[in-house]
Amino acid sequence: MGTRVALVTGGTGGLGTAICQRLAASGYKVAAGYNSGGDHDKAKAWQAEQKAAGFDIQIAFGDVRDFDSCGRCVEEVQGQLGPIEVLINNAGITRDSTLRKMTKEQWDAVLVSNLDSVFNMTRHVINGMVDRGFGRIVNVSSVNAQKGQLGQTNYAAAKSGIHGFTKALAQEVARKGVTVNTVSPGYIATKMVMAVAQEIRDEIIRGIPVGRLGTPEEVAAAVAFLISEESGFITGANLSLNGGQHMF
Ligand code: CAA
Repeated sequence: MGTRVALVTGGTGGLGTAICQRLAASGYKVAAGYNSGGDHDKAKAWQAEQKAAGFDIQIAFGDVRDFDSCGRCVEEVQGQLGPIEVLINNAGITRDSTLRKMTKEQWDAVLVSNLDSVFNMTRHVINGMVDRGFGRIVNVSSVNAQKGQLGQTNYAAAKSGIHGFTKALAQEVARKGVTVNTVSPGYIATKMVMAVAQEIRDEIIRGIPVGRLGTPEEVAAAVAFLISEESGFITGANLSLNGGQHMF
């Protein structure tokens, strides 16, 4: 198989860092796509930290909200590492608010960053994967796409849309050696979840049968499983990792 090249969007964030580390440790050539509000130094500092921890990870700027910026990001990674064979669409944001108070900006920001982003990145890599006869795409959704969540009409809509995209694309490319899957993490101990007010978070944790938040490493392990050579028969799936919070 050689060494496969993987691009992880939102690669310097909470889940992204764990995914990059896991894939690097498994022998992939990994690039972390980042935006960081255009703060390139922040991304470089992240890269240096990874290096010190023993992970050799490329960084590539790309604003997932912008189709052309994603194209440039893909070109940069392919120029440095080779054709992208694995794409993890992980970048995402929250702008929680009940709908009664939600602004158009909060709606748009979440839909564009969490859903348009999946098109913006995938469109630039899909034909190469099909032409080479191999590809693995994993889209990161959420338990809240599956069950809904007060304060997240925008997020639940975007994250549900992701799995629709997964199922449609999975059918288009199934015969070409390309699999497309969704992972739906529950509440994972990242900054995003820690931003939820503590009493609300405690209430949520009480509703998780496993009795704790998940870890980013647990999500990374699921991603690694779905992109492995052996997972070629798994496509269009939606793998829940939520500590039993939502079963269906
Ligand atoms: N069930 C039903 N109604 C509820 C409720 C509940 N659990 N909690 C509050 N309400 C009602 C209140 O009674 C109130 O109604 P009235 O106005 O009729 O009294 C109303 O909802 C409160 O609405 P507000 O807009 O005033 O609420 P707020 O501004 O104080 O807080 C919120 C809204 C910021 C969305 C807050 O509820 C919150 O943070 N919720 C958690 C959201 C969440 O889980 N986000 C996940 C982030 S992590 C992530 O997204 C990763 C992932 O994939 C899991």
